[in-house]
Amino acid sequence: MYLDRTEERMYDGEFGETVQQSMEILVALGDIYGAERMVDISSAQVSGVSYKTIGDAGLEYLEDLRARGAGVKVASTLNPAGMDLQRWREMGFSEEFASRQIRIVEAYSAMDVMNTCTCTPYLIGNVPLRGSHVAWSESSAVSYANSVLGARTNREGGPGALAAAICGKTPEYGYHLQENRRATLRVDVECELSGSDYGALGYITGKIAGEGVPYFTFNGHPSADDLKALGAAMASSGAVALYHVDGVTPEYMEASPDEAGESITVDAGDILEAREELSTTDDDPDLICLGCPHCSLDEIRRIASFLRKNKPACDLWVCTSAAIGSAASRMGYTDVIEAAGGMVVSDTCMVVAPVEDLGYEVLGVDSAKAANYVPGMCGLDAVYDDWMNLIRP
Ligand code: F3S
Repeated sequence: MYLDRTEERMYDGEFGETVQQSMEILVALGDIYGAERMVDISSAQVSGVSYKTIGDAGLEYLEDLRARGAGVKVASTLNPAGMDLQRWREMGFSEEFASRQIRIVEAYSAMDVMNTCTCTPYLIGNVPLRGSHVAWSESSAVSYANSVLGARTNREGGPGALAAAICGKTPEYGYHLQENRRATLRVDVECELSGSDYGALGYITGKIAGEGVPYFTFNGHPSADDLKALGAAMASSGAVALYHVDGVTPEYMEASPDEAGESITVDAGDILEAREELSTTDDDPDLICLGCPHCSLDEIRRIASFLRKNKPACDLWVCTSAAIGSAASRMGYTDVIEAAGGMVVSDTCMVVAPVEDLGYEVLGVDSAKAANYVPGMCGLDAVYDDWMNLIRP
């Protein structure tokens, strides 16, 4: 692939060993995927943070990079960690897990990756503009960046996103190119949707679309939170990194849905079937986990408002970023949630935290992505429903 003069110097080691090593990773990726050149990126979003998922090998890799003086060139934010970085003790995480988790986050911080620990960085300031190139790795955030914001990113792996952040560049292939952003599957939704129906729709669509680009037509107008849930679900049942919504998302007019090779219709029966399929048991949950992807402030407001009159029958986590959690505290929402017996949990979630070690057996979730991953990643059962139904069965 073509490298300009600065990129060649990076590749040759003139900017240090860690830049050279990162450039080698990017060139290797570019060669595999047929990129012709590099593009500058405006931000990175780095996964590979939870000690549960990256283990000792990941920790050693990061501490080695840190020791060799690696640092990022562009605004870079971190995906969720394996625990709440403040309240882990009270939540029952072990000292051993916590000490390693803290070392991982410290290694990233030393490289100047902001320890935001969230999968919704676009809610707290990492908001790429339409048409800008970025290197993001959390699949639901990638979907949101491409589809709702109109930025351009592939589904990067953790090391690829970090290498891109260190060089400020990424190879130009896949969703960085206009020709790969056209619709491949038209999805006409014939029923009204609300709440967890969006996750169910994403679950259905992801399975059919695979790596394709769905184009939706809806009766109503989904909210930003609905699109967050829809994209997360498609990225988990399939590998969808970009979708369009007729009249809503920024690139729908360039998506050419009439040339999509395939089309499907989805009705109320399909949604109901998918909702049932996403539950693995009829048992009652012993922990309700909301906030996958991490809650927006408005979602927390609505949960708090409901909890003023309703108490959950079991433990309740409302997962979000520390930044949104702090805003929720200032608004008094956290006090309301905690007075009802729930907890606003920052920095982590029900999938990347070792919830299986905390004695829970059945998780109640309103996220199709979480319902899809909890059985495999945590070995626990999942009950899928709207959050109000989970809290007040
Ligand atoms: Fe985020 Fe965890 Fe869901 S990382 S998208 S809350 S599985």
